[in-house]
Amino acid sequence: MAFNPLEQTGIPVDEQFRNWSELNVTPFESTFLLAGSVDLMTQELVMLDAVLLAEAKDHANWSCLAGMVDDLPAGDVRDAFLAAVDEVEVQEDEHLRWAQDMRCRMISLQATSGPTSSMG
Ligand SMILES: [Fe+2]
Repeated sequence: MAFNPLEQTGIPVDEQFRNWSELNVTPFESTFLLAGSVDLMTQELVMLDAVLLAEAKDHANWSCLAGMVDDLPAGDVRDAFLAAVDEVEVQEDEHLRWAQDMRCRMISLQATSGPTSSMG
C-alpha cells in the first residue's frame, strides 16, 4: 500500500513528543543503531542530520547570547562576553554553513549514485 499523506490523520497533539528527551533514541544514537541495516550513504546522511541539528542549535545559542550581551551593563563582564561572542559566533557560522553544504552535497550524491554497501 502506497503512503498517501492526505489520508493520514496524524498523532493527537497531546500524544506527540515535545522534545528529544522523550524519544527512546536520540538522533545521535540512531546513527549507530542503523549500522548494517541501511546503505552507507543513508547512514552518513542521518549522521549529518544530527550534526546539522547540533550546529543549528549552537548557532542559535550564540546568537541568543549575542543579543543578551547588548543588555549587559558596560564593564569587564560585558567585555568578556562580547569577546567570546565575537570569537565563537564566526566559528559557529562556519560550522553551520559546513553542515548545510555537506548535507546538500550528500543528498546530491545520493540522488545521482546507486546504493552503497552498508557499514557493519
Ligand atoms: Fe559548532
